[in-house]
Amino acid sequence: MCGIVGYIGNKEASKILIDGLAKLEYRGYDSAGIAILQDNEIKVRKYKGRLSVLEEKIVDEELIGKTGIGHTRWATHGAPSDVNSHPHANTTGSLTIVHNGIIENYIEIKEELIEKGYKFVSETDTEVISHLVDYFNEGNLLEAVKKAVSKLEGAYALGVMDKAHPDKLIAVRKDSPLIIGIGEDENFLASDIPAILKHTRKVYILDDGEMAVIKKDSISLMTLDGSPIDKEILEVDWDVEAAEKGGYDHFMIKEIYEQPKAINDTLSPRITSNGIKLDDIKITKEELEKINKVYIIACGTAYHAGLLGKTLIEKYVKAPVIVDVASEFRYSNPFIDENTLMIVVSQSGETADTLAALRLAKENKARVMAVTNVVGSSISREAHDVLYTWAGPEIAVASTKAYTTQLVSLALIALDMASKKGTITKKEYEAIIAEINTLPKKVESLLKEEEKIKEIAKDIYIAEHVFYIGRGADYDVAREGSLKLKEISYIHSEVIAAGELKHGTLALIEDGTPVIAVATQDKLYDKMLSNIKEVKARGANVIAIAKKGNKEIEKSADSVIYIPDIIDEITSVLNVIPLQLLSYHVAVMRDCDVDKPRNLAKSVTVE
Ligand code: G6P
Repeated sequence: MCGIVGYIGNKEASKILIDGLAKLEYRGYDSAGIAILQDNEIKVRKYKGRLSVLEEKIVDEELIGKTGIGHTRWATHGAPSDVNSHPHANTTGSLTIVHNGIIENYIEIKEELIEKGYKFVSETDTEVISHLVDYFNEGNLLEAVKKAVSKLEGAYALGVMDKAHPDKLIAVRKDSPLIIGIGEDENFLASDIPAILKHTRKVYILDDGEMAVIKKDSISLMTLDGSPIDKEILEVDWDVEAAEKGGYDHFMIKEIYEQPKAINDTLSPRITSNGIKLDDIKITKEELEKINKVYIIACGTAYHAGLLGKTLIEKYVKAPVIVDVASEFRYSNPFIDENTLMIVVSQSGETADTLAALRLAKENKARVMAVTNVVGSSISREAHDVLYTWAGPEIAVASTKAYTTQLVSLALIALDMASKKGTITKKEYEAIIAEINTLPKKVESLLKEEEKIKEIAKDIYIAEHVFYIGRGADYDVAREGSLKLKEISYIHSEVIAAGELKHGTLALIEDGTPVIAVATQDKLYDKMLSNIKEVKARGANVIAIAKKGNKEIEKSADSVIYIPDIIDEITSVLNVIPLQLLSYHVAVMRDCDVDKPRNLAKSVTVE
């Protein structure tokens, strides 16, 4: 997830681009760059670090020009660095490109271009686009861009500027957001509305497979095959603050809604027609065969994701897994040696305790694999193997899309290890991949339950205590649900393995006590029904989550949220959606600072 902007008009472009990028920094801030068309040359300035670094460096420079493109980066391919920053140019520097998205077949294209004599300077997937446009460019920029994008697989929102065509910018969209801002004698392109709101409230929202030729006094919209499109102009009535949150009231709810895309972005480049391909997981079959113990170490929500990792690895890889919170693990007496695999899970890649656990494992010669959301983070640099979640920046302190992308990443790792080790049949492997592929759509369908969940929240927001129960993977996801509720609503919430209720916690259930019961594991469903009856008999207000079709639960629960049918092993990706929405609405009803809960921080870099 990156942010792009473009300007063509009569004003100085650099200031407009930098202002626009400042409004897009929520999309990533690993580096920032601009390209300005000045005296028939393109001047590019791009630096690692936040936008302020770029601003400071160009303060004394004469970047004068009325056309330009800009970019703020969330690194995916290639660590944050000056050279990996956008805009990316062709070899002569006559054309530049800004890109948001991921080009899945970039390695293939890169190899072909190298054979044709092209030289690459960065490690990014984007650089292939600038060389590809150059390759097809015989004087007609629009045709060259069309031909180039026809070769690309993956997601892209592009802004293209060519000094031979100083009167235009070209914008293209597939699976990454892109808007065109309509001004007076000036026009804009941007990843999101806040970037241009200062200048205009009139926009076109491009759809997938659409492109635009943007001149200062005209905008032509067309499909990728060149057919003109007639589009309605959207008049934006949001204020700037709401616009940064995409019209949502809080980043948390925006990020909850980003999950179908985040899960898809994390999965789709890794699931090929030949099975799972994890480029940065280099562990071989031989190395895996030596592993006799796996640790999964993490903190907070990432630890909850790790619990599913255990279930999946034990089931498919047939290796024993210990999951622990990093702060406990690092002071315990773990058995680590060269036959140990440690998987660390960390959204930020900087959590002090998780990093310390990783270092402890390395000192003891273990192999370390990381699942993280931040390219270039300490954890990603120090681990032997890395699988990035491509969730994009998560701003709300309470983690949502990082968690679901961690879950699917751990599923990919488990299946990849199982297929390398030969502990899974081809049939089973393919069947699970087919199920995993349905997740983005199923998450999307669950988000439609928001109104119903809001109604349920009305019963809960006045509670002093809330209990979560579940069994197996449902117990693990219930832990995440409970954490979500307490951290943003400040209601005391507790999670109990449903079978343990009778050993103590049942004593706390009284008339009206809310109990959230997750009951989606087929083989444990009947047991859960009994547990629900136990709490119901003590007066609990039971809110259940069950699989569609399991209707008898309605006899015991006060309300039921159904999830679409899915194999038991990955239900958590779906179950957590209503749990997140419930916590969110309870917190809003209690007037809490949802995105910045008291006493908590997004990234905990101290012990
Ligand atoms: C903090 C955050 C949580 C996160 C945890 C671990 O507590 O508020 O959302 O799960 O740290 O962070 P990490 O970046 O390592 O995933």
